Amino acid sequence: MPATQGTLRARLTRVLAGTLGATVLIAGGALLAAQSHTLERQLDASLRAHARSEIETAIDRSDHRAHLHDDAVDVSHSAGRTLALTKYAALYARDGAVLATTRSLRGHAPPWRRAWLDAAFDVTVRGVALRAVVLPMGTETDARALLLAVPRDALNAALRAQALLALGLLALALAIATALAAQLARWLTRDLDAIARTAREVSQGDLDARVGKVGGVAEVRSLAVDLDAMIARLAGLVATQRRFVSDAAHELRAPLTSLRGELELALRRPRTADEYRAALARAHDDVLALGALADDLLALARARTNADDGSASVAEAAARVAAMLRARADERRVALALEVPDALCVRCAPRDLERALRNLVENALRHAPADTAVTVRAEAHGESVTVSVRDRGEGVALEQAERIFEPFVRLDPARNRDAGGTGLGLAIVRELCRAHGGDASLDVHHEGPGARFVITLRSA
Ligand SMILES: Nc1ncnc2c1ncn2[C@@H]1O[C@H](COP(=O)(O)OP(=O)(O)OP(=O)(O)O)[C@@H](O)[C@H]1O
Ligand SMILES: [Mg+2]
Repeated sequence: MPATQGTLRARLTRVLAGTLGATVLIAGGALLAAQSHTLERQLDASLRAHARSEIETAIDRSDHRAHLHDDAVDVSHSAGRTLALTKYAALYARDGAVLATTRSLRGHAPPWRRAWLDAAFDVTVRGVALRAVVLPMGTETDARALLLAVPRDALNAALRAQALLALGLLALALAIATALAAQLARWLTRDLDAIARTAREVSQGDLDARVGKVGGVAEVRSLAVDLDAMIARLAGLVATQRRFVSDAAHELRAPLTSLRGELELALRRPRTADEYRAALARAHDDVLALGALADDLLALARARTNADDGSASVAEAAARVAAMLRARADERRVALALEVPDALCVRCAPRDLERALRNLVENALRHAPADTAVTVRAEAHGESVTVSVRDRGEGVALEQAERIFEPFVRLDPARNRDAGGTGLGLAIVRELCRAHGGDASLDVHHEGPGARFVITLRSA
């Protein structure tokens, strides 16, 4: 694995951990705020309860004098503990004067404020932060209200403890979230590593490398399947290419060997003029075969690499091919019939269409028995045009229908290298048609006798 800084896994971990962390943080904060609110309400309730019982006993029934007790205020804590807190209490008269205080407030009772009545609030006395409640007194005495307070310290300490606890839990949750996010990211990206490794292996030339079966998410699984299919296709293409090169070398060697043998034999000792002429004629045949092979190889390479666009009239191409091969047809006593409507045009360079038709008609003429006809027929089918070439020869076995389009495949044993054919004719036809968005095939549904080859091209 390269540096993790920019990797998908590192990013996923960061994003997941960040999101989870932020969620936990917000939830923790909200929980803490709710908790502190509850604690304050609990304290206020305890203060009110204590204040009510203080009010009961604040006025002496016999002499109507007011006095407050200096006992502690018991406040129940959220964790179930009870705290005894210093009591700060003051009794106010109707005119706001202080009637009585606990020792803790002696001489320092805060001045009366109307807004305090029935309220709970924070107040500071001699530097001590207090939580206070004020309750009204009954109407039968001079006293108007009782203020009862305790130091906030205890509450703050409880809040601090809870905040610390929450913070601890938060840190723990964050650590777990990060670990989980890292694990999840690892799980999500595990198969990507396998895919990347395979791609690297292929780029280093290992065409047997495959990602194979991966678990994980559906998208990654289908990426792995697609990549494997692509590598398999690539491997197939490379194998075909290698086979082609070795076949081509083999094909080139045959006429060259024959040529060399011919020349060596001629040079071995002095010959008569007739012998030299015969040797030269054989050498000439070999050179012609080499030339034909070179031409066909070039045509095939051109068909694969650059398809000139354009539009070609099928009738014109067929007429030119017929003119070119007329003599050969006559020689074999084979009639050439053209059934091609004038108006049909296809999207193909005229030269390429002519070459494809010529190869098919040449084959047909070669396989047609004497006194039969070879028919070239063109028809429009919607967006496409089919051109068929039919003869009345021995035909092609169904199982060879695809093989004959492979380079250098010749079925006829008599039609070997020495007989002149390169075995590239049909391969060139197919490549030319495919380069122009069409195709070429043997019509496997054709009812004999003979073979029917069909090329399909887009109409122009
Ligand atoms: N009309 C046909 N009838 C019967 N067999 C055919 C016909 N056309 C082609 N074939 C078979 O397919 C093989 C391949 O044809 P292809 O045109 O590619 O090569 P070729 O004709 O042998 O050589 P080339 O065309 O390069 O001179 C032929 O050798 C022949 O066996
Ligand atoms: Mg041929």
